Amino acid sequence: MTAPLLETRGLVARYGSVQVLHGIDIAVPQGEIAVLLGPNGAGKTTLLRAISRTVSTRGAIEFDAQDITGRSAARTARAGVGHVPEGRGTFVDLTVEENLRLGGLARPRVRRASAGQDLQLVYDTFPVLAEMRRRAAGLLSGGQQQMLAIGRALMARPRLLLIDEPSLGLAPLLTRQLFDVLVRVRDGWSTSLLIAEQNARLSLEIADRVIVLTGGRVAAAGPVAGFRDGDVIRHAYLGDAHPAHPEAVGGRDTATRAIGDKK
Ligand SMILES: Nc1ncnc2c1ncn2[C@@H]1O[C@H](COP(=O)(O)OP(=O)(O)OP(=O)(O)O)[C@@H](O)[C@H]1O
Ligand SMILES: [Mg+2]
Repeated sequence: MTAPLLETRGLVARYGSVQVLHGIDIAVPQGEIAVLLGPNGAGKTTLLRAISRTVSTRGAIEFDAQDITGRSAARTARAGVGHVPEGRGTFVDLTVEENLRLGGLARPRVRRASAGQDLQLVYDTFPVLAEMRRRAAGLLSGGQQQMLAIGRALMARPRLLLIDEPSLGLAPLLTRQLFDVLVRVRDGWSTSLLIAEQNARLSLEIADRVIVLTGGRVAAAGPVAGFRDGDVIRHAYLGDAHPAHPEAVGGRDTATRAIGDKK
């Protein structure tokens, strides 16, 4: 089995004296969409921040067979980890195209020359952004801003893209369209994705792999097929300690075993 693109082992994070991640072991294989589910406060945002090195942690993070645990956020981004934080973080006074070009600054030096091509690829992926390229980002709708934030992150040519709650504030139809684009991103940009989501139903439709966090721990993880019946997700959200399908849910041991599965 080839090594996963991303692997964390025993990841622990705290805010001040409060520990919020209690030893997270996850893996994201190359070329997959992994969806990170879990109730409010489970630690999804913190886990994405830990991987992009914007919160400090104990434990190990391997990306592309390199230990990135001690790296700065900037070096981690240059190594190929893109992060679209919750709330999007676009510059509202700059135009769509200026925002996209800023995203290109995080790209590895060797790729700078092809920024123009990648800008075109962003416009091909999100045609609405091409139409609005001269418009101030603050004038875009919520869904368009989400696309802009993702497009901007893609300009750095990430190998792994972390996206925090892309569906937040979007109507179901827009969410579905956005998720369709995320599949195009996986397939057209050679990018793996780790997406934190509250919308379990829709995100399961595009996921290759699912990780469920509750209370800062992995409650279940594995290929999406084992999650589609909904039981695993329901138990995880309800925090049921005695799931009806222990072979599918289980504690850390099951999760770790499932992570090791071949695709
Ligand atoms: N900056 C912070 N300082 C202190 N505590 C924090 C901070 N950010 C998050 N927390 C706490 O850490 C825990 C995990 O929060 P986190 O934002 O990672 O959860 P989440 O799964 O992303 O939740 P949501 O679904 O609401 O986005 C929560 O208990 C939260 O209150
Ligand atoms: Mg969050």
